[in-house]
Amino acid sequence: MACLIIVGTQWGDEGKGKVVDLLTERADAVVRYQGGNNAGHTVMFGNKTFILHMVPSGILRETTSILGNGVVIDLSELVKEINELEKMGIDVEKHLRISDRAQLVMPWHKTFDQLREQKKGKSKIGTTGRGIGPTYEDKAGRAGIRVGDLLDQEKFRSRLSELAKEKNIFLEKYFDTDETSFSAEDIFSEYADYLEKLEPCIVDTPFLINQLIQDGKNILFEGAQGTFLDVDHGTYPFVTSSNTLSGNACVGSGIGPTCITGVLGIVKAYTTRVGNGPFPTELLDDDGKILQSEGNEFGATTGRPRRCGWFDALLVRQAVRLNGITSIAVTKLDVLDNFDTLKIATGYRLSNGEESDNLPRSLENVIPVYHEMPGWKCQTAGLVKYDQLPGEMLGYLDKISELVGAKVSIISTGPKREETIVLNPDQFWD
Ligand code: GDP
Ligand code: IMO
Ligand code: MG
Repeated sequence: MACLIIVGTQWGDEGKGKVVDLLTERADAVVRYQGGNNAGHTVMFGNKTFILHMVPSGILRETTSILGNGVVIDLSELVKEINELEKMGIDVEKHLRISDRAQLVMPWHKTFDQLREQKKGKSKIGTTGRGIGPTYEDKAGRAGIRVGDLLDQEKFRSRLSELAKEKNIFLEKYFDTDETSFSAEDIFSEYADYLEKLEPCIVDTPFLINQLIQDGKNILFEGAQGTFLDVDHGTYPFVTSSNTLSGNACVGSGIGPTCITGVLGIVKAYTTRVGNGPFPTELLDDDGKILQSEGNEFGATTGRPRRCGWFDALLVRQAVRLNGITSIAVTKLDVLDNFDTLKIATGYRLSNGEESDNLPRSLENVIPVYHEMPGWKCQTAGLVKYDQLPGEMLGYLDKISELVGAKVSIISTGPKREETIVLNPDQFWD
């Protein structure tokens, strides 16, 4: 039995989807435990590319794929994603299980997310506009609707009409827009269609996952977003609205912490961020442009260009602590192939002139202090053997490992499943 959590150590898009897909080869189930379709997880193998927003990446190997109680689900988008996967020949309904306790992203959540961003103007967060924040707000405010509520049609109808009334007042009085108001009856009939398709997949997921654990199965927990988008530990308020840290895998899937056997941190060999918020090592020069074009750094969900910068060891060291990371997978090293010199932030100069190698409460107005290393200046994309890697790359990996305090277990040299070096594959499993 193994329960391995896979978690992003930066601001998302570290390559979690690729690594989850890779490790699914030996897994019996893959669980998403937080977030919603704000995620975009890319998986490539052969000549196929899949971008998964909601369905766990394990589905591509037709492994039991579970949406845990901690996720928020936009049913219209979920059904679209399932249809796309089915068109590609994957039997989703057979393998997907949806928690009856997961919260629903309702039409008002998406509208309010977008209107709120417009209203904020320059100070906007730069959300994905998928309604994630408002859905988690309503969950905490006990004004949400859960997947299981759909199963009692009359109760669902009356809850919907009560909530639509309240949300329409908010739409009209607070946002003062001419957006059409929410019709409880229209939503009811739309959701009845979704239920017809999804009902066989709706189950008590904590029961199912605990059963799998009891039966000695291998389970992967697929984190979404990244450590510094965590609502408590990230660069608040420029964060998402869920706890993205590994600790939430337990709450978001209904298992105890004693079941967890490892935490794999996914680390991009440099840093990227989509949306607004502080980013100390951001590069606004040609080097930043090279990272963006070589790394194809455009959001998998919104298509927005990702901001790019040098590797920040302070961030990832903090991520190792916050998540209890047992080893790291370093991705996108091949993107650095053409640089003469590589820089790693090892400290920050704070606004009072002092230097710190610990993360301050705010990352605004800090200036990174860099350690410079020679680049390898040769093509490494697609290498699959450790002893083919250039010495400078091994030096860069060693330095990262030493600075962040975690050993490297996976090296990724390209976007495809097969472009990976797994050091001692048995270490993840009992
Ligand atoms: P996720 O959200 O963490 O799953 O990451 P995304 O899929 O949003 O972004 C990662 C991007 O990098 C995707 O386009 C992947 O196909 C790609 N990728 C992953 N690993 C590597 C790698 O080692 N090298 C290169 N060049 N691309 C990679
Ligand atoms: P994956 O799982 C990168 C960012 C948004 C925005 C902030 C809040 O693919 O790594 P939200 O819509 O969640 O309220 O937006 O969080 N964000 C992500 N950035 N990768 C993601 O997911 C993200 N999910 C949300 O860009 O800055
Ligand atoms: Mg992504």
